[in-house]
Amino acid sequence: MTNPEVGVVDGLPWLAADTLTMSVFHNALRRDLERSEILLGSPENLSPRRSRRLGRHLQWMMHTLRWHHEGEDHHLWPLLLEREPGSSAVLDAMQAEHHAIDGPVLALEAHARGLVAGRTEPRDVMDAVKTLAKPLMEHLAHEEDEAMEIVSRVLNHRDWNDFEQRAWIDGYTVWESVRFVAWMVDGVEWNRPIRRRAGLPAPIYWAVVKPLALIAHVPGLSIWAGTPAARVRSRVA
Ligand SMILES: [Fe+2]
Ligand SMILES: [Fe+2]
Repeated sequence: MTNPEVGVVDGLPWLAADTLTMSVFHNALRRDLERSEILLGSPENLSPRRSRRLGRHLQWMMHTLRWHHEGEDHHLWPLLLEREPGSSAVLDAMQAEHHAIDGPVLALEAHARGLVAGRTEPRDVMDAVKTLAKPLMEHLAHEEDEAMEIVSRVLNHRDWNDFEQRAWIDGYTVWESVRFVAWMVDGVEWNRPIRRRAGLPAPIYWAVVKPLALIAHVPGLSIWAGTPAARVRSRVA
């Protein structure tokens, strides 16, 4: 993860892109794959109803992950290549890793549909989660270490916001946005530096973000509530 840095380029103020939202998104994936493994590995916590809800949640998460990768492939890597042609080896590796993850994503989606329909055993879904988790965790770390380092060097704050808007936000309905934000902030430790970087006004933090960060413990609102999975937090550094 990077921090905003202020500099001067061609006599104009330059605020480096802060990739906090990328980090929060990646950590939400890590958090829910870990939570899924906990539920799938403990039949006592997996009632038929919770099982169906977990299947639907995994389907939504795989759709969201594909959308995330497509946004990077179609919008972010070309922009970085244009700004820094010497970064092509890293960017090619990013695309190749996305491509390698496509198969495990589709397999988990199919298993998640089976979980909803009651025709797939939790242990088979667990295998699909683990098959995806290995290459995905490696990719997320690689992207954070190398691709985000390029982002913070060649993109400014506005470039980054424009990219996020174009690639991921445009076209979302209000309800879709609320669901996505609630998922992102679930379990995040919102300490002062993170709040400052996110630019969260105090009333929004106290009235919306802080309650949503505890959503995993609310029965009826979260599939993790009342199970050990609810204790898994999102580790944003
Ligand atoms: Fe990413
Ligand atoms: Fe990626």
